[in-house]
Amino acid sequence: MRILTGIQPSGRLHLGNYLGAIRQSVELQARADDCYYFIADYHALTTVSDPAALREATLGVALDFLAAGLDPEKVVFFRQSDVPEVQELTWLLSIVASVSRLELAHSYKDKLAHGKEATHALFSYPVLMAADILLYRSDLVPVGKDQKQHLEITRDLAVKFNRKFGEVFKLPEGFIPDSVATVPGTDGQKMSKSYNNTIPLSGSDKEVKKAIMGIVTDSAPVEAPKDPEQNNIYRIYKAVATPEKAAEMAERLRAGGYGYGDAKKELLRAYHELLDPFRERRAALEAHLDDVRDRLAAGAAKARVEARKTLAAARRAVGLD
Ligand code: ADP
Ligand code: TRP
Repeated sequence: MRILTGIQPSGRLHLGNYLGAIRQSVELQARADDCYYFIADYHALTTVSDPAALREATLGVALDFLAAGLDPEKVVFFRQSDVPEVQELTWLLSIVASVSRLELAHSYKDKLAHGKEATHALFSYPVLMAADILLYRSDLVPVGKDQKQHLEITRDLAVKFNRKFGEVFKLPEGFIPDSVATVPGTDGQKMSKSYNNTIPLSGSDKEVKKAIMGIVTDSAPVEAPKDPEQNNIYRIYKAVATPEKAAEMAERLRAGGYGYGDAKKELLRAYHELLDPFRERRAALEAHLDDVRDRLAAGAAKARVEARKTLAAARRAVGLD
């Protein structure tokens, strides 16, 4: 069974990305024998327009996955744009992609609602994503909830293409791990790079401390008993600490006499306990960026072999052979 997933290099990854995506993907490599993970840099171009920032974020995501334990011997790990065949497949799929269906995509509508220009790239984003998935004949695609509709579009495109031109594509299944809680940001909304409320994964100790000390709280005095579930520090702590430690903090907050300053210090300690091994491995890898680039290139070479097979079948089906 082939598992495939992609992550956009649209900025520096944060604690929410680590707990909600990277960690799960890395854990899956032990359970599946065939994994394809890639850095979706073509997709990121819909939001990143600074070339230096794109290069930096792409390498940053590679470092994050490798430091989190991704094993390039087990996983075909590559950069989307190193396999340009995906663009040709996007075109072939776009012949069965109806405009009215794409106009209904939540993520497209959401971006327009936030004032983004309705570009063709933003509009055809789901077709490129379908090409990613179908090109590698993926069986299972783990994604966040927000990507569910893109998977439905992928399946629709595969069915329509197969019906029109013969059985070329395998139908993939989406897999939305529901065990993954959404990690709140420092302001209590979902932690997201778009909201400026993140706790960094790879920033300096000083940046991490600043983010944690900046978590928004109410102004209850130290003595007051506090409801943990109403508290941003505790809600983030729960995602980082062991269940026993989280239960201890909840108890202290409820009892009163435990202030937010102490809770923040405890969160900072738990953050470092969880992430320092990752952070040390990342720093070591960062000192050898050429090795990281070589690994991505080796992954792309493997991915390309598979990509060419599917593309050849699709070309043949439409009469381009
Ligand atoms: P962002 O919201 O920062 O732009 P993305 O949408 O690029 O993040 O998400 C990349 C991956 O990280 C997705 O799989 C998504 O489900 C996961 N993720 C993002 N934010 C969180 C969060 N706050 N908690 C848990 N998982 C998250
Ligand atoms: N759109 C996905 C996201 O923003 C990233 C992505 C691109 C992807 N291509 C993919 C995920 C293919 C899974 C499969 O999270």
